[in-house]
Amino acid sequence: MIIRPRRLRRNKIIRDLAAETRLSPSMLVYPLFVREGRGIVEDIPAMPGQKRYSPDTLPRALEEVRKAGVNSVLLFGIPEHKDERGSEAYNDDGVIQQALREGKRHFPDICFIADVCLCEYTSHGHCGLLKGEAVDNDPTLDLLARTALSQAQAGADMVAPSDMMDGRVAAIRAKLDGAGLEDTLIFSYAVKYASAFYGPFREAAGSAPSFGDRRGYQMDPRNVREGVREALLDIEEGADMIMVKPGLPYLDVLRAVKERSCVPVGAYCVSGEYSMIKAAAERGWLDERRVAAESAICLARGGADIIVSYFAPELARMMKEGE
Ligand code: PBG
Ligand code: ZN
Repeated sequence: MIIRPRRLRRNKIIRDLAAETRLSPSMLVYPLFVREGRGIVEDIPAMPGQKRYSPDTLPRALEEVRKAGVNSVLLFGIPEHKDERGSEAYNDDGVIQQALREGKRHFPDICFIADVCLCEYTSHGHCGLLKGEAVDNDPTLDLLARTALSQAQAGADMVAPSDMMDGRVAAIRAKLDGAGLEDTLIFSYAVKYASAFYGPFREAAGSAPSFGDRRGYQMDPRNVREGVREALLDIEEGADMIMVKPGLPYLDVLRAVKERSCVPVGAYCVSGEYSMIKAAAERGWLDERRVAAESAICLARGGADIIVSYFAPELARMMKEGE
């Protein structure tokens, strides 16, 4: 035999040299939940190891995240008060705005990304205004844009719309630019599927819809070309970066989107993916760290420039240790 592929696998140094995919902590984003109140650090039962913080305890968590080597965080707000119009989302003194101001004051060099959606803030749990049982696209746009503006004014470096309304990137861009915030980036959840993998998140954020589901606005898992279309639309509307979500079950979508777009592409390894690994690891059925690392590698190999993951601090620690 002249050709022996195994030679490239002989030892770790050779394997590392020959690796086609390389991960770095700089590509990681860590999602964090912030709820209204003071002195709160509470467990999230469906997501072991993840917690809800109040704006005043958030800096302690950020300290740990940064120590691990992660420089970007994605914040979700959980308000005390919900109503039909999700008004706490665009209240300048709302929970996410408080968290952004507090976070930015302590850590001006962390990149703060704010999730823009109404479902955590509406009494019905849908991502926009209702007209009957359906989410009414166009009147929702202004509320999303106001939310993004309020978050940017509170210190968000990026806003990340996750609502899946048509035209929301353009509406947000216009609103930000109109207020002189042309440097705020838009990281759009452009390709977001109506997925059962969001289950644990909805428990964490209290954002499950009170009736129906999100299939009228989030994408159908059977479609991939539609994902490319959504990605290209958002880029045309001014998205600086886009995301595919969920992660591992949608690697084909990630690849297709990556090949057709010219902006950084993120993959969101969602709550269900996290909790499945955690649950199996608790039973001793999977090696948590190795499965988490492999998941991240597969997302990068599939085309992700950016990885949003609840494992981010653990992944960054592993990368630093060269595992
Ligand atoms: C809000 C939002 C959701 C997630 C991110 N932003 C939930 C949903 O769409 O129901 C899911 C994140 C996760 O599961 O980790 N629209
Ligand atoms: Zn939503």
